[in-house]
Amino acid sequence: MSVIIAPSVLSADFGNLQRDCEMINQSEAGWYHVDVMDGVFVPNISFGFPVMNVLKKHATKTLDVHLMIVDPDRYIQRFSEAGAEVLTVHYEACTHLHRSLTEIRKHGMKAGVALNPHTPISSLNDIISDCDLVLVMSVSPGFGGQAFIENTYRKVAELKELILKNNAKTLIEVDGGVSEQNARGLAHAGADVLVAGNAVFATPNPLATIAALQKTANS
Ligand code: DX5
Ligand code: ZN
Repeated sequence: MSVIIAPSVLSADFGNLQRDCEMINQSEAGWYHVDVMDGVFVPNISFGFPVMNVLKKHATKTLDVHLMIVDPDRYIQRFSEAGAEVLTVHYEACTHLHRSLTEIRKHGMKAGVALNPHTPISSLNDIISDCDLVLVMSVSPGFGGQAFIENTYRKVAELKELILKNNAKTLIEVDGGVSEQNARGLAHAGADVLVAGNAVFATPNPLATIAALQKTANS
């Protein structure tokens, strides 16, 4: 399977969201990455359902929603109704992770778990088969445009081993500071999905940057 590039809507121009959606629709990106922050789990507030509604209306690709919120169980149904196809909750925000993942799947979505940079891969030893996706945070969540944490390569390789050992079909997603400099190394370590915010939207030609990321990741 080729590596999927998922531009992060957090870095889009919200005054021109429809235009940016059209750019992503035309691009080689596979998914939209949608960062929802509550100002409690992370020190930032991003957006919620009004923006989800715009995305649902204009996006022609998978909506991959990353919930950086406490007690995410409260909103599983709402995100399913809002068009999320992949719904990722944080390991650190779920007391009953198995229950949360089961609920997400029950609502017809792929169930993802995100790990903060300090959370070891081994935390997933007993739940990996129930994860459709694991999102490895390569920055501390909360903001776009932060520097990539190099330890991520090791974590991705360790996660890949855990998935293979369990005969699981879990996808590996890497989120934070992804660029043309690290995309190839991450793909070789085992990443299936690469999120890119700043690397895409801070360039003069986002369409060409997505193509370049896609090419590097798959080389
Ligand atoms: C960070 C978010 C990321 C962010 C990535 O908390 O989860 O998805 O948008 O942005 P860049 O690629 O700029 O690090
Ligand atoms: Zn994210």
